[in-house]
Amino acid sequence: MRINTGIKGLDEMLKGGLIPQRTYLVKGGAGSGKTIFSIQFLLEGAKKGENVIYVTLEEPADEVIENMQFLDLNITNGNFHIIDASPTGDLSIFSDMFFENLIPDVQGLKSALESKLEAIRPTRVVIDPITMLEIASKSEVEYRREILHLCRLLRKFNVTTLITSQKTEESSEDFIVSGVIELLTYDVKGKVIRGIRIKKMRGSDFDSTVRPYKIKKGGIEVYWTESLFE
Ligand SMILES: Nc1ncnc2c1ncn2[C@@H]1O[C@H](COP(=O)(O)OP(=O)(O)OP(=O)(O)O)[C@@H](O)[C@H]1O
Ligand SMILES: [Mg+2]
Repeated sequence: MRINTGIKGLDEMLKGGLIPQRTYLVKGGAGSGKTIFSIQFLLEGAKKGENVIYVTLEEPADEVIENMQFLDLNITNGNFHIIDASPTGDLSIFSDMFFENLIPDVQGLKSALESKLEAIRPTRVVIDPITMLEIASKSEVEYRREILHLCRLLRKFNVTTLITSQKTEESSEDFIVSGVIELLTYDVKGKVIRGIRIKKMRGSDFDSTVRPYKIKKGGIEVYWTESLFE
């Protein structure tokens, strides 16, 4: 059984979609489309009547909602739940952003997420971006432990999860998750060209070619029959 990503052309690259109830990583640089990708993935579940949760760790929730409206991605569905853990949100993982030494409060977020999972039993969850958790962790070991803990919690509730990362190089998160999708940008003669690549997908065949994608009204569209380097 596979579930649709909600991104036109990507399910073809994934040979039918994502294997449910696993955690996947979407990585890419600033402005590559990670948040748009996340929202499309969640709206796909919400429109089928499923409950979904979007955890925002960096961009305030009201800004995300507004930016998505510009793309005709309307977060109005009652099944779409948001946990605002951005620095200015109610559930910020930093207890005071204005201290010289940030005091992380990841526990508050984890408890809020767990009670939400219990209350609404979502099918899809997004944590965007996981990179903020690293800033809140004292060491690489603690960061990995936090991610593993989160993955275990989400697995217990049988949800399909996307975590996003701003890291473009290979990193520890790549090994923890079941699949990795990269949003790449190339500068060709001063013009930005976007390409999507599936780097890893446990338990599935997939198209490993870099395919072009565009961000436009309706969100990301992948041109899965086209090649970027021909
Ligand atoms: N209406 C639009 N038409 C075309 N492209 C758009 C439109 N709105 C946004 N974009 C593109 O989407 C990008 C932002 O996408 P998104 O917020 O998903 O990126 P991100 O990877 O989450 O970035 P960050 O790491 O900063 O959070 C913009 O940089 C812009 O290129
Ligand atoms: Mg973003």
